[in-house]
Formats: sequence, structure tokens, C-alpha cells
Amino acid sequence: MIPLFDLTRQYERIRGEILNAIDKLISSGNVILGENVRRLEEEIASFTGVKHGVGVASGSDALLIALRAMGVEKGDTVVTTPYTFFATASAPYRLGARVIFVDVDESTFNMDLNQLEHVLKKEKVKAIIPVHLFGRTVDLEALSFLREKYGVMILEDCAQSMGSEWKFSSGEIRKSGSVGDAAIFSFFPTKNLGTYGDGGMIVTNSDEIAEESRILRVHGARKKYFHEKVGYNSRLDEIHAAILRVKLRYLERWTEERTRVARTYQKLFEEKKLPVVYPRVEEKGFRYHVFHQYVVLFENEEVRERVREGLKERGIQTAIYYPLPLHLQKCFRDLGYQEGDFPVAESLSKRSLALPMFPELRDDEIKEVVDTIALFL
Ligand SMILES: Cc1ncc(COP(=O)(O)O)c(C=O)c1O
Repeated sequence: MIPLFDLTRQYERIRGEILNAIDKLISSGNVILGENVRRLEEEIASFTGVKHGVGVASGSDALLIALRAMGVEKGDTVVTTPYTFFATASAPYRLGARVIFVDVDESTFNMDLNQLEHVLKKEKVKAIIPVHLFGRTVDLEALSFLREKYGVMILEDCAQSMGSEWKFSSGEIRKSGSVGDAAIFSFFPTKNLGTYGDGGMIVTNSDEIAEESRILRVHGARKKYFHEKVGYNSRLDEIHAAILRVKLRYLERWTEERTRVARTYQKLFEEKKLPVVYPRVEEKGFRYHVFHQYVVLFENEEVRERVREGLKERGIQTAIYYPLPLHLQKCFRDLGYQEGDFPVAESLSKRSLALPMFPELRDDEIKEVVDTIALFL
């Protein structure tokens, strides 16, 4: 059996350190918003290259709280893509904002910035939520340009892209999460930096957005029991922060290993000359992709399903991210979209397949995956 993702192999490598960190934390008796959350916030802000980090209960909550802290409210317009995890769009929707989707670019799976600019020319948009999908960075320079030109706010969804980078024409290299007014991370177990449960973080250079997020995560109270607004119970637990602080020290090594896995897939796909579109480990001199997922494209749905069944028969796990684009979800019917509105997202949802990807995946396993794909093609 070759899993899509395996937490247990990673745990074997760090078990002692994790158990020590948990033991130390519980022995301290201080398990809510203490030293570990504070230090993790500093470490992740510094890793991203921004001023503040605010730990919250999940990536989904981070999106909701960040948008509110940025001043998004009922009636505002927020733009994102229909080809992402549900929470990216449900967050503005829950705040009563009008959600507009923009199709993605087939070669990157990310928001098509030309189509975004068409929308910005026509509509009064309050905020954009670009998603660095599967770990691949959206063009940060183009995003900064649009932000300035149209005076629109940006919330980067970095749930899948921790550590990914973009090189500006000035030569400067910046991480995803450092360009928007704010950005969010998810620490869901499968993420590149994940805990053993749920967690998330908002990062920002803005003192106001950080302060507002800190208030919103504790029921809208700056001072305990004195509520300025109706907020949420959405703290990052100390136990998760303690675990994440251990794991953050390994992130660089794990990202290298994910890149090694992607490179091995690439070499095998190249050798076999298979009719499969796969992401390339381009040697651009910067880390534009951190391979949260390794997603390939087949010619059509029939071929994808045949290969997927074949892999399943041989005990190889795969997943479809995402089988139904968000504009076609039942709960978003009132947004007024229909089939055909976003042809690229619709086509990707029928042709894409996520293959096993995690730092500990072995070369012989990767070979077996590719050999099996070749067999069923
Ligand atoms: C792109 C994207 N945004 C947001 C989220 C939400 O994160 P969480 O699962 O921590 O709520 C996820 C996680 O699955 C995600 O992949």
C-alpha cells in the first residue's frame, strides 16, 4: 500500500522531541495562550518576513477573522477562485460579502490575473483572496501591482504554500504571505507544517489588522469579560503551538524532500514520455513551488478515472482536488453561477489527480506509482 500522505513515518523521526515538548507544556500548567503560542507567532511572522502572527483555531477561522479584521462586511465585494478548498470562499460568504469568482490558469491552477484585472476594472472590489494552490506561488509582483493600481486589499491564502517564494524583477525574493495586507496559514495535519489536530495563523504587517484579529479570537474582548464586538472562541491551543515549534525546525528539510519527490516523479514521467501534464521543478533559483500536493492532469475524465481505479486496485492512494468547483456547489447557488462559467476550473476538476506526496515517500514507491500509471494509460 502506498499512501497519499503518511503522518506516521514523520512521527517516527521526531517522536522524542514531540513527546518532550508536550510533557514540558502540560507540566507547566499553562495550556491556553501562553509562551508557545506567543513564540510560534513570532517565529512564523519572522519566517514569512512580516511583523505579526496571530494564532487561531484553524485556517478556516484565520480566513474569517482576517477578513473581518480587514474591514470586510456585508455588501462588500470579495474576489477569489472557484478552484480551491471550500473555506476560501465560505469565509467572505459568511460575512455577507458578495463573492465573485475568477477562473484559474490551467498551467498554474492559480487565479488568472488577467481575468482578475478585467473584474477590477468593472467592479468596486474590497478584497481579493488569491490562493497559492498546491504550494505554487501566485505571481507576487503582479499581485502587488494590482493592489496598488486598484487600491484593493489582498488576503493571501497560504494554507498550502508555507515557505514558497517569488522573485521580483528587482532581484528581491519574498515569501508567499508577505505581500498581501494579511495572509493565512493552516496547520491541518496534512499541511507542509501541520499539527496533530487543527490550527491556523494570520500574519500581517499591519498593527491594526493584528490587534483586531487578537480581539476577535477571544470573543471580541480586549480586556477579559469586556466585549467590544461579537467575536469568536478561536485560539490556537498551546499544545499545538508546542508541537508546531518542534516541527518548524524541520520545515526546510521537509520542503527539500518534497522537492526531491517531485524531481523523481518528473524524471520518470520524462523517461516514459507519458501523456500526463505534471508540475516541473523549475530551477529558477528560487522556490516557487513547495509541492504541498503533487497534482497531474490527464487528457480527459475517462482516462483519469481509468488510471485512478488502476492505482486503487494496486493499493496506491490518490485524491481529487477538487471534484466540484465552488461555483457549482449547492450552497452557493444564490451567487448565480452555472456550468460553463469557469471552463478551466471545470476541466481541471475532471482531469486532475493528486499522487502520493510527502517528504518520506521513497524512490521505489514513486517508481511504482509511475509504472502503474503507465500500465493503465
Ligand atoms: C486553500 C485552503 N484554504 C483554507 C483551508 C482551511 O484550513 P483549515 O482546514 O485549517 O480550516 C485549507 C485547508 O484545507 C486550504 O487548503
